[in-house]
Amino acid sequence: MEFKLESNVLSEIVADTLLLGIFEDETPEKAIRKLDRSFPADFLESIKQVCLQEGFRGKANESVHLPTYGALACKKLIIWGLGKSAEHSAGSSRKFAANVARRIKSNGAGGTLCLCLRSGKDGKSDSQAAVEGWLLGSYSFSKYKSNDDDKPKSKVKKVTICGTNLSARDFNAAANAGKAIGEAANLARDLINEPPAYMTPSKLAQEAKRVAKECDLTCTVMNVTEVEKLGMGSFLGVARGAKEPAKFIVLRYNPPKAKKKIAIVGKGITFDSGGLSLKPAQSMEHMKYDMSGAAAVIATMRAIGTLKPPIAVLGIAAATENMPGGSALHPGDVLVAMNGKTIEVNNTDAEGRLILADALCYACGQKPDEIIDIATLTGACVTALGRVAAGIMGSDQKLIDHLIKTGEEAGEKLWQLPLYDEYKETLKSDIADLKNAGARGEAGTSSAALFLKEFVDGRSWAHLDIAGPGWLEKERDEFNKGGTAFGVRTLCRYILSQA
Ligand code: BES
Ligand code: MN
Ligand code: ZN
Repeated sequence: MEFKLESNVLSEIVADTLLLGIFEDETPEKAIRKLDRSFPADFLESIKQVCLQEGFRGKANESVHLPTYGALACKKLIIWGLGKSAEHSAGSSRKFAANVARRIKSNGAGGTLCLCLRSGKDGKSDSQAAVEGWLLGSYSFSKYKSNDDDKPKSKVKKVTICGTNLSARDFNAAANAGKAIGEAANLARDLINEPPAYMTPSKLAQEAKRVAKECDLTCTVMNVTEVEKLGMGSFLGVARGAKEPAKFIVLRYNPPKAKKKIAIVGKGITFDSGGLSLKPAQSMEHMKYDMSGAAAVIATMRAIGTLKPPIAVLGIAAATENMPGGSALHPGDVLVAMNGKTIEVNNTDAEGRLILADALCYACGQKPDEIIDIATLTGACVTALGRVAAGIMGSDQKLIDHLIKTGEEAGEKLWQLPLYDEYKETLKSDIADLKNAGARGEAGTSSAALFLKEFVDGRSWAHLDIAGPGWLEKERDEFNKGGTAFGVRTLCRYILSQA
């Protein structure tokens, strides 16, 4: 898909479809007059009449469709509500583009399309967000649909964007970033939405290698024997119950003269049955998405490898199934993590923290300036924040604040939860340094994060619990249903902001 800056005035834009965003607190006539003083007066009158007739008020996602019959250079004009202008942000441009793309995908319109954004001062953020939104809204996962009618696919070949006041150079930079991030998120969605029997740890590693090749990253995949040598007893404990071999995936982006080194670490449980602490059927249904953190890491590395900022990034994905096979962990077993800490496993379903413990130790060994982990870690986080926001916790308040702000710009809500020392009481074991699961029903998200904190060696660290927004039953603006790739946009934007 191509994204180009449109520099013609409205009436002269050549496209199959022209989409014009209109705010709630303006009339379409006024907005159009402002954008194009030579706009044909009689067609303007028709727009006014149709909008009146259809009760168009400019509320978000309202729309009015008009064939132009040659009055304009475009074939069809769609007036699209953007909501209140005072609430306008890059986020509304992202939603605008995403909702338009989703509508177009289902009604089968094709050809060329022009989006007229209504940027204020920040045309760059708006353009980037619109490109992201377009790609995110166009997404569908229909690989396993046998009927073509069930395979919605955007037939739009080219999208141009106007209304941003940008030079072609600034626009192209913004569009490139939006494209890399949008495509990365869609890659992560594909990885997550694939069935667990297909997206095994081996397959995930293969995908990481493919990404590395595509954009010049180095990729090392360690197998069980290699990981054993490193002393990752905690990761291997989880892997024991599965027939599918575990993989420890490391992607590296190392530009010359890097200003900083950031490690991102993802939970890659390609299926979480709970292990011997087996989940009930309902809780297991969507547990293929328990590798969303790993998918986010691999996808972020793809965007970073494409955009090449002067920041070194280390991407780590610990991948295994959590299964109740004959050699599975028993509740009561004691594991030794890479940093020597011993863990009594009182619940095999608290496996995410077990694999992340070793992944974080490994990350620390690479001496990054910051570590950010991302994981579908706790059901408690879904209870606390629903599918709207991810939980964020960590040891470095500045990093947390920066991530929260970046998340806002990226359209991903992050809400901080506390790491009070008192919660650590629940992780005390009678026979080992720690146990893996705290008291049921009590601050489960915070105690899980406190467990992880034992493995970051005092480094600057933030933890994103994406268990809620990582999966949606119903699409919402730029978020699709199924695996959402939550976190990719925030991680990409955060890393790019450090350049
Ligand atoms: N993968 C789950 C967390 C999860 C639950 C993600 C629901 C998405 C939706 C995780 O491995 C898990 O099972 N956590 C347990 C921890 C408990 C045993 C301490 C949980 O949240 O119930
Ligand atoms: Mn689990
Ligand atoms: Zn899990």
